[in-house]
Amino acid sequence: EKVYRLALLPGDGIGPEVVQAGRRLIEAVAGALGHEVIFEEHAIGGAAIEAFGEPLPEGTLKAAREADAVLLGAVGGPKWDRLGGNRRPEAGLLGIRKALGVYANLRPVRAYTPLLGSSPLRREKVEGVDLLIVRELTGGLYFGPKRREPIDGGTRVVDELVYTTPEIERIVRLAFDAARKAGKGLTSVDKANVLESSRHWREVVERVATDYPDVPFGHMLVDNCAMQLVRSPNQFGIIVTENMFGDILSDEAAVLTGSIGMLPSASLGDGPGLYEPVHGSAPDIAGQGLANPLGTLLSVGLMYRFSLNEPRAEEAIVRAVNRVLAEGYRTADLAGPGDRISRTEEITDAVLERLELE
Ligand code: NAD
Ligand code: IPM
Ligand code: MN
Repeated sequence: EKVYRLALLPGDGIGPEVVQAGRRLIEAVAGALGHEVIFEEHAIGGAAIEAFGEPLPEGTLKAAREADAVLLGAVGGPKWDRLGGNRRPEAGLLGIRKALGVYANLRPVRAYTPLLGSSPLRREKVEGVDLLIVRELTGGLYFGPKRREPIDGGTRVVDELVYTTPEIERIVRLAFDAARKAGKGLTSVDKANVLESSRHWREVVERVATDYPDVPFGHMLVDNCAMQLVRSPNQFGIIVTENMFGDILSDEAAVLTGSIGMLPSASLGDGPGLYEPVHGSAPDIAGQGLANPLGTLLSVGLMYRFSLNEPRAEEAIVRAVNRVLAEGYRTADLAGPGDRISRTEEITDAVLERLELE
C-alpha cells in the first residue's frame, strides 16, 4: 500500500475553510484508491506570526520539504497589513515558494459549461476557453533587491526586476513542453518595448523556440494581453510570463470562469509540489462558511496529477466538480439572481458524493 505524506498549510482568512475541504477530498480519494495519507498540518502567514512570531517557522518549512506535496490555503489579512515587507504573512508564502524552488506556477483557466452564465463576459466569448498561464514564480520583481532611502523631500524607493538567462530558459522550456503536450500554441507575454529584462526574455524565447519547430508561438505585450484576455480569450493556449505579469493576468483571467474562487494552481520545481487556489484569504467573507472551495478541490486534482502520479484522481475530481455545477450548486461568488446559495461544506459534500473512482 502506498503511503503519501502531505503537508497542509491552512494559513489565514478563508484558507483554513478551503484547506479543510481539500483534506476531506484527499481522504475520500485515498479511501477509493486504497492509499494511505499522513497529514502534517502547520502554520504559515499570519497564523504563524501569531503562534511563532514569524510567517514561515522552521517546522513548517521542514514539514513541507519532507512532504510528497504541500496544500496551502491563503495568507494575509488586515491585521498584519502594517508590518514591514519581510515580516508580513505574504513573506511566508514567498519564502516557501523560494525555499521549495517551485519556479513554475501553472494556473489553468477553464470555462466550465454550467458556469457560462456566471461570467461577466457573454457566453459565446468564453465558451471553449481552456488556457494555461505558466507564471514564473521565484524571480522577477518579487525577489529582486528592495530598498528605501531618505532623500530631500521624502523617500527614494526601489524594487528591482532581476532575471538570469537560466531562470528564463527553464520556465520557457517548461511552457513549450506544455504547449507541445497539449497540442496548443504558446504566447510569451512581456513588456519588451520598455523593459530590458523583457528584451532578454524575448531573446531566450526565440532561441528555445528553435527546439520546438512544431509549436506555434508568438510574443505579446502585457498591456495588450490584458485586453485580449477579455476581448477574445479563445485565442490563447499556453501563456508564459514573468512573475508579476502572471499574478495580475491570472486574476483577470479568473473571471472568465465566473469567479476567482474557481482557479487552482500547481507550483512545481525539483522537490515537492506546492498546490494552492489562486485566490487570497478573502477577509471580507472569512469565518462565515461562504468560501468557494472548488479552486482548492481542483488544486488537489493537480496534486494527484503532478505529485502523486494518479491522473485518474484528477479526472474524477474535475468530473465531480462539473456535475455539481451542472446540478446547480453555487457558492455566493458564483450565484446569480434566483440561484440557491450553497455553503462551503455543502458544495464540498456534493463533490465528494459524486466522486467516481473505478
Ligand atoms: P482575495 O482573492 O482574497 O479576495 C478578492 C475578492 O474575491 C474578495 O471579494 C473575496 O471575498 C473574493 N474571493 C476570493 N476567494 C474567494 C473564494 N474562494 N470564494 C468566494 N469569494 C472569494 O484578494 P484580496 O482581497 O486582494 O487580498 C486579501 C488578502 O489575501 C491580502 O492580504 C493578500 O495579500 C492575500 N492574498 C493571498 C494570496 C495567497 O495566499 N495565495 C493570494 C492573493 C491575495
Ligand atoms: C498569489 C498572491 C501572492 C502573489 C501574494 C499573496 C504574495 O497574489 O498567489 O497570486 O502575488 O504571488
Ligand atoms: Mn495573486
